[in-house]
Amino acid sequence: MSKAIIRFIDLFAGIGGFRMSFDRCGCQCVFSSEFNEACQKIYEANYGEKPQGDITKIDAKDVPDFDILCAGFPCQPFSICGKKMGFNDTRGTLFFDVCRIIKEKQPKVVILENVKYLINHDKKRTFKVILSTLEELGYTVSHKVLDSTKFGVAQCRERIIIVGVRDGKFEFSDMQESAPLTIRDILDEDGDFEYLDKSEYTLLDTKYIRQQKTGLIFIGYRNKNIWNKGVRPNTEYLSRCHRQPNRIYSIDGTHPTLPSQETSGRFWIYIPEKDVVRKLTIKECYKLMGYPDNFIIDTNKGNAYKQCGNSVVIPMIHELAKSIIRQCFTKEYHVKFTTNNRQLKLNF
Ligand SMILES: C[S@@+](CC[C@H](N)C(=O)[O-])C[C@H]1O[C@@H](n2cnc3c(N)ncnc32)[C@H](O)[C@@H]1O
Repeated sequence: MSKAIIRFIDLFAGIGGFRMSFDRCGCQCVFSSEFNEACQKIYEANYGEKPQGDITKIDAKDVPDFDILCAGFPCQPFSICGKKMGFNDTRGTLFFDVCRIIKEKQPKVVILENVKYLINHDKKRTFKVILSTLEELGYTVSHKVLDSTKFGVAQCRERIIIVGVRDGKFEFSDMQESAPLTIRDILDEDGDFEYLDKSEYTLLDTKYIRQQKTGLIFIGYRNKNIWNKGVRPNTEYLSRCHRQPNRIYSIDGTHPTLPSQETSGRFWIYIPEKDVVRKLTIKECYKLMGYPDNFIIDTNKGNAYKQCGNSVVIPMIHELAKSIIRQCFTKEYHVKFTTNNRQLKLNF
């Protein structure tokens, strides 16, 4: 007897971080939605399908049946949260559109991804509404802040992951972590590198250099403005005194979160054996997100940086996908775990 294929939908699809992770588990994407044209083009170039547009205009009845809903929804202000809790209080937000589809289609599993700050938004009321709304819709909900450095990438990127399961409960403890990488592991040997002149930066005295808990090693800064307010004399060597685009990190540590707002890729690294500071290339940024070498990226650099910083870390979501499938789907389903996280590294 042939096995059933696990079907998923990819909402707020961006450039398809969820798509790639679930594809790698042998699942089938039956619907995607993304209204940004540049993202749609990149999605189509990589996965052969153009996502549908604005989710607010999609009738839930038109979405085909599926088993897993994936949504890295934008953290829109939940201005009406907390007044009256519950499903009706989520009206007017994109989260409501996700709930409309859940209510109509009742998938087995729902996965939401967002910035860690979502937990504390509006004095924690937003998060409470999200959890209780999913419960009202019939799901047992688990959530955890996951750090991508635990899943074989060299970027420190913390994200809140919410998993709702109908008839079951997802245990994050089942997820398998991998040994950390450093920036050094993903660097290209050759390329059109952009270097800083020695006059343009300052390296810290070694007595100030230490690895942070997150794996970052702040090693120097561009000779530009430091934060003026609240900076005590003789603390200029601390990373927090320097605006993020002016900070330089050692390649023997991890990299901070690649933000979605950065469109010119001012991410600076120090290479000790060559005694140079250079910018990370756009290709290296995609590798910090765990994207494979053959991923087609936007030729418009501004778009490419934005799409990269908006996406999810592939090995982390891939591990999440594997764990969800192990826990929530029986052996009657077709599953094909194509790669594990360490192998992803070899694919670079
Ligand atoms: C945080 S990003 C998600 C990125 C995605 N997880 C990935 O791996 O690339 C949110 C995405 O939602 C899209 N979006 C925002 N509002 C939307 C709407 N009303 N309908 C469809 N897509 C929307 C944005 O264009 C953006 O690409």
